[in-house]
Amino acid sequence: MSTNNKTLDPAATTASQEDISAEISSIHEVYRQQLLSGMKAETQPRVDFAPYRSSLLRHPTKNLHHADPETIELYSPAFGQRDVHALESDLTIQHNGEPIGERIVVSGRVLDGDGRPVAGQLVEVWQANAAGRYVHKRDQHPAPIDPNFTGVGRTITGANGEYSFTTIKPAPYPWKNHHNAWRPAHIHFSLFGTDFTQRMITQMYFPGDPLFALDPIYQSITDQDARDRLVATYDQSITSHEWATGYNWDIVLTGSNRTWMEEEEGEH
Ligand SMILES: [Fe+2]
Repeated sequence: MSTNNKTLDPAATTASQEDISAEISSIHEVYRQQLLSGMKAETQPRVDFAPYRSSLLRHPTKNLHHADPETIELYSPAFGQRDVHALESDLTIQHNGEPIGERIVVSGRVLDGDGRPVAGQLVEVWQANAAGRYVHKRDQHPAPIDPNFTGVGRTITGANGEYSFTTIKPAPYPWKNHHNAWRPAHIHFSLFGTDFTQRMITQMYFPGDPLFALDPIYQSITDQDARDRLVATYDQSITSHEWATGYNWDIVLTGSNRTWMEEEEGEH
């Protein structure tokens, strides 16, 4: 796979939030006009979305090389129920002590385009801690690492496509897209189908985040309904007494209600 070798505009990271927001608004206005003139709604992000500066550098400019899935299966990992321990879905018990922050449960279902449950699917998550720090990332801001929180978990969906993670609510964190750029709080999700060629990656957000309007990654999805599908719902039935607040988030793999998926593993 060949990647684009355009050089990044040196002014990119010095752009102001106002510049970025104005760019987002004008792209969305064009999209709104196209919808009014009968264009089909978009469910996926724009590959080239200028306000998200590095999106211009990341995607292939040539056709993908189509690998034979049968051949790939001979040497790539495959996952099954026996490979994942039930405790791996609890990100709060991986160390000797309790992580700091707001304990939450995130539950939902993985569904196909017709609303049918997708059972036996490997679901992996990774996220920042309650201070907005990743354990593993470069370009870190001065927020503390939590020695009791790694921020990585996984599970296999049950017979009804259901999954559930216990974790700590992540905080927003800054990134270098432009001056004073902050990502809304989010959890990264990766889903494997039945083989390695079916991996999909997306992000889940929390309701009411004031950073939504400012975030060029979230806004690279031009369709409001498609953006809304990335936002979990607070769910009192998932919340447990004196223990954790609960959020519900369903992931739709195909069809017109498909959950937005990244082209490749996101840096942010
Ligand atoms: Fe992130």
